[in-house]
Amino acid sequence: MNTPRTLGTPLSPTATKVMLLGSGELGKEVIIALQRLGVEVIAVDRYPNAPGHQVAHRAHVINMTDGDALAALIAQEKPDLVVPEIEAIATDKLAELEAAGKITCIPTARAAQLTMNREGIRRLAAETLGLATSPYRFASSLEELEAGAAAVGFPCVVKPVMSSSGKGQSKVDSAADVKAAWDYAAAGSRVDSGRVIVEGFIDFDYEITLLTVRSLGEDGKVITQFCDPIGHVQVQGDYVESWQPCRMDPVALERARDIAGKVTGDLGGLGLFGVELFVKDDMVWFSEVSPRPHDTGMVTMATQVQSEFELHAKAILGLPVNVALKAPGASAVIYGQHEAAGIAFEGVADALRVPNTDIRLFGKPESFARRRMGVALTTADDVDTARVNAKLAASKVKPVIVK
Ligand SMILES: Nc1ncnc2c1ncn2[C@@H]1O[C@H](COP(=O)(O)OP(=O)(O)OP(=O)(O)O)[C@@H](O)[C@H]1O
Ligand SMILES: [Mg+2]
Repeated sequence: MNTPRTLGTPLSPTATKVMLLGSGELGKEVIIALQRLGVEVIAVDRYPNAPGHQVAHRAHVINMTDGDALAALIAQEKPDLVVPEIEAIATDKLAELEAAGKITCIPTARAAQLTMNREGIRRLAAETLGLATSPYRFASSLEELEAGAAAVGFPCVVKPVMSSSGKGQSKVDSAADVKAAWDYAAAGSRVDSGRVIVEGFIDFDYEITLLTVRSLGEDGKVITQFCDPIGHVQVQGDYVESWQPCRMDPVALERARDIAGKVTGDLGGLGLFGVELFVKDDMVWFSEVSPRPHDTGMVTMATQVQSEFELHAKAILGLPVNVALKAPGASAVIYGQHEAAGIAFEGVADALRVPNTDIRLFGKPESFARRRMGVALTTADDVDTARVNAKLAASKVKPVIVK
């Protein structure tokens, strides 16, 4: 496509139809952005009443790693665009359907295939594109992992090749700890492929997400634009707070944009990407990339003229985007704290009394102790104030079990 899509009327023969594969909190916001443009949205997830299901025109529950089930649903719904929102889907089937001209996958089926497995994206970034990354080895047995860890050196980080949000990931300080990391990875892998990556530990000063948007310019050619860098803190591989803009050395920022431009240029297609980078002084390492909105980018709902979700929605439709910052701000995650269905949230009013604050509660039917159930968003004159206020607001929200 090199012209903007003509938008129709939902639930009529002219409808522009978009199918979201994965309907969590990020998908929910993409859906709301699409709804505002009168797009007909079909939300798919593996469990009923997922956040995005609750705001879509139609909701489906299927096992998205089942290629036949996915193909059958696509044949039934005939979406103009298929938009993966999570990694764990039958991406080979998407590639097959795309090659047969049956679907347009966002950004491309190849991008979804490469990023669902750490091996695909790491080999592309380091070996094909020559980008700076941590040293790494892949291993399919404990013996291979022991050799790989020795090769990259200690400390190192072991991760299942197919996992996200830090699942199955551990830091290893010495050869004696390698077996425990191997066992932990096997337990935390999304698909038990029995394969892991071991990466040398990068002693970075800070890490960022560089949201990068590929959209159509007036001449029909793809243009690449960068949002202001987002700083974030991860605990056990899962994001707990983020802020924008993240102050950066100008040389490091230039290098970050160069890396993001190269990797998103290779993955191709239209849409927003979250490029994760480690920074030390003016040195920058590529870590990984999401070919879709990024959890740390939820802060943009407060800080940007167009949030990362609006940017994604517009870019995939071939529409122009505005990546400008509106105000410095921050986000802080609200965890479930309980293992229960149908929890309630006390203290929302107190949270909203913190200056320049907003709250999102995702509406997830079931809570787990470490499940992300909501987020606090703030703006301020400076990022430091915004971070303090976001954490304060998040702490005021108290998940409770209703008896
Ligand atoms: N090689 C490394 N050196 C130092 N820190 C690392 C390394 N790899 C990962 N980390 C830390 O662990 C975090 C999570 O790692 P990574 O992004 O690879 O995992 P993930 O499971 O894909 O997480 P998510 O889905 O939240 O992005 C990183 O953001 C970083 O803080
Ligand atoms: Mg990550």
